[in-house]
Amino acid sequence: MSDIYAGYAPIYDAIGQGAFAEALARRILAALPARPERVLDLACGTGAAALVFAASGAATVGVDRSEAMLAIARARAGDLPVTWLAADIRRLPVDETLAPASFDLITCLYDSLNYLTGEGDLALAIGDAARLLRSGGRLIFDLNTEHEFATWGEGLDQVVYDANGLLVYHRLAYDAPARLARGRVVWFTREDGRWRRGEERHVERAWSDAEVLDALAGAELRLAARRAPSWEPAPPEAPRIVYEAVRDP
Ligand SMILES: C[S@@+](CC[C@H](N)C(=O)[O-])C[C@H]1O[C@@H](n2cnc3c(N)ncnc32)[C@H](O)[C@@H]1O
Repeated sequence: MSDIYAGYAPIYDAIGQGAFAEALARRILAALPARPERVLDLACGTGAAALVFAASGAATVGVDRSEAMLAIARARAGDLPVTWLAADIRRLPVDETLAPASFDLITCLYDSLNYLTGEGDLALAIGDAARLLRSGGRLIFDLNTEHEFATWGEGLDQVVYDANGLLVYHRLAYDAPARLARGRVVWFTREDGRWRRGEERHVERAWSDAEVLDALAGAELRLAARRAPSWEPAPPEAPRIVYEAVRDP
């Protein structure tokens, strides 16, 4: 599968796209009953959340399928205790790094699970995460909901960054019958007095709450909470929901 972040990775960081996961990781750590010793961040991107967990003292593993995103994560990590792994979160390898029942906390943040678009993909990723959680461990992930994608309608243009010789805009659209949201990410960088243009196309699937509950039940995880990113209970029409699930003893 091609890496849709190959060209966008350095832009992603430069415009602060990691800020959401970084803030959510801090909120998660503050809310947990005990400090996690081993953390796995799925679809870790450039390391926004993984680096927060590692800085808290947790032995952390970050997995992403994009070598370009991982290269930036590695460079940012310095001496922090993080192991980076290039893998698809729908079929994680079984090895010493990803030993069964070995993690206290597994996260997958900033709508990364929406990027799984195939029938059954969500169940595969959640099933793999459940296998890696120790008894009492937690899986926390957020999803863009259909309510968010509906605002994209037949076309929504957003300038997401315009400063310091860098212009980034998103052209978003939602195909409701297919439940697929499409985003063209376009950027212009100013180099040697000229503008250079880059573009990538992202597709996200609207997973329904029922599909999430099915995937959790299939993996024998118990839903503990649905929240907004602010950590308040998620309202029914929430554009984004943070799910917390527990592997009971
Ligand atoms: C929106 S970014 C979020 C990155 C990071 N969690 C953050 O908050 O900054 C989505 C990430 O999901 C990764 N991704 C998408 N599908 C994946 C898959 N099947 N396996 C592993 N990584 C995947 C992409 O490479 C990208 O780094």
